[in-house]
Parts: sequence; C-alpha cells; structure tokens
Amino acid sequence: MQDWKDLYNIIRDPSWPDYENYNDIPVNIRLEMFEEHGFKQPHNNLLLEYTDQDYAGFVYNLENWLKEIGSDTDALCSRRDLLFIYTTIYNTKPNSVLEIGRYKGSSTLTIAGALADNNVGHVWSIDIVDLLNDTVKNHIKDYATLITTSSDCLWNNTEFDRTFDVCFVDGNHSYKMVLNDLEFCAARAPAEQIILAHDNDYHEVQDACHMFLQKFPEYTDCGNWGDNIRVLRKLAT
Ligand SMILES: C[S@@+](CC[C@H](N)C(=O)[O-])C[C@H]1O[C@@H](n2cnc3c(N)ncnc32)[C@H](O)[C@@H]1O
Repeated sequence: MQDWKDLYNIIRDPSWPDYENYNDIPVNIRLEMFEEHGFKQPHNNLLLEYTDQDYAGFVYNLENWLKEIGSDTDALCSRRDLLFIYTTIYNTKPNSVLEIGRYKGSSTLTIAGALADNNVGHVWSIDIVDLLNDTVKNHIKDYATLITTSSDCLWNNTEFDRTFDVCFVDGNHSYKMVLNDLEFCAARAPAEQIILAHDNDYHEVQDACHMFLQKFPEYTDCGNWGDNIRVLRKLAT
C-alpha cells in the first residue's frame, strides 16, 4: 500500500498512535484501512448503482464483454458481484489468482479483465467442464490458464504447487466441497490472501465458511460484499 499514511490519517481515531511503518499497525486497523482503501474509496462508484458510463478499462465495457459469453442468463454472477470481483483484483494487484468454477466465464472474464487493467498477474481457472467459447478464450489467453479437473484433485497436481494471492471459490456448492476448496486455498496461501466465496446466500457455503474460520483462525471474516460474496482475509502477522 503506497498511500497508507494518508489513509491512516484520514480514518485515524485520536487514540491511535502515529505509526512509522505500515506493518506496525495492528491487524484490526489494517483491516479497516484495507476495506476503506480497497473497497470504499477508489472505486466507490463500482459498489453503488451500476450504470455503464462512469467506468474505465474492462468495467466500462463489461456489458459488451458479457454479451460475448452468450445470453444474460449465462452470467452466473450478478453485476454487483462482478464489480466487486473487479474491484478486489484491481485494487490488490495480485500476481496469482485461483478460480474454482468458471461455467461460461463471467467471473473468469472479469478477473482477467482486472488483471489486464493492472497489466500484471495470472489466473488459474478450474472447472470440471470446459464451457468457454473461443471468443472468450481468445480475450483472456494472455492472463488465464484454463484447467479441466475437479477441485478435489488439485492437492496432488504439481501445477498447483504455487501460492495464490486471491482465490475465487464458486465450484460445487456442497458443504464438503466448499470446505475442500477453502482449505486448498489456505494450503496455497502466501502471507496475505483474500478468498472470495461466491453464493454466500447458500447455507452450505455459510456453514463451510464458518468451519473454515474455526480451523484457520489466521483468516478474518470480512463479511458479505457485492450481492453474495463472502470475503475471508488472511493478513500477515
Ligand atoms: C455456479 S457455476 C460458476 C459460475 C461462474 N463463476 C460464472 O461467473 O458464471 C459452478 C461451476 O462449478 C463447476 N464445478 C462443479 N463441481 C466442480 C468441482 N468439483 N471442481 C471444479 N468445478 C466444479 C461447474 O461445472 C460449474 O461450471
């Protein structure tokens, strides 16, 4: 974070010390700053009402991109969810992203679009079926690797012996599989990681997130964002 001190001074409670180093700031304050910095200030408009005139880069053309995946019902993430995914990737500038569950690619396109706007990073996308059309594949080819396998087979896959800065979990929504996917993300976490668990309105997703947070206390529950995205964040200690 480059401008952490300005932001810290803006949101600073009078009782908070004047820290010299970002890493000295307590985790709870850093989390507050992250939410302010990443999700409220720079792209505040993305999280409010969606209109198609105020955005730059990928987001400006989101509707055109989505037409390329097929009909509107082929996008299984809502516009608000896609804008939140975009905001997360755009603001955190990850080097590596894991996506579990791409279907026809609305989330994949959005992740790749944000990486393209950042001009850095790559997404490894997992699904048991390959449903992306050639147009979409061509658009994302510089930023995405598409892998057709089940997410419970990733544990022994040498291609996944790497860390992932951001993970988007939207595969099989059973309790067992969501927990498997979250645990895999944790097993491949660098010092800091953001997990976006989609369809947080499903009780099995909620239950799996709850169990995950009990098993992995290093993750903070940042609550629900977009329409139905549960954000779990690991901060460096
Ligand atoms: C809700 S859809 C994903 C929607 C997608 N993120 C989008 O933006 O449209 C769930 C996807 O998970 C895939 N899936 C189901 N079980 C899976 C598994 N075990 N491993 C990986 N993907 C799985 C399905 O094939 C389906 O494409």
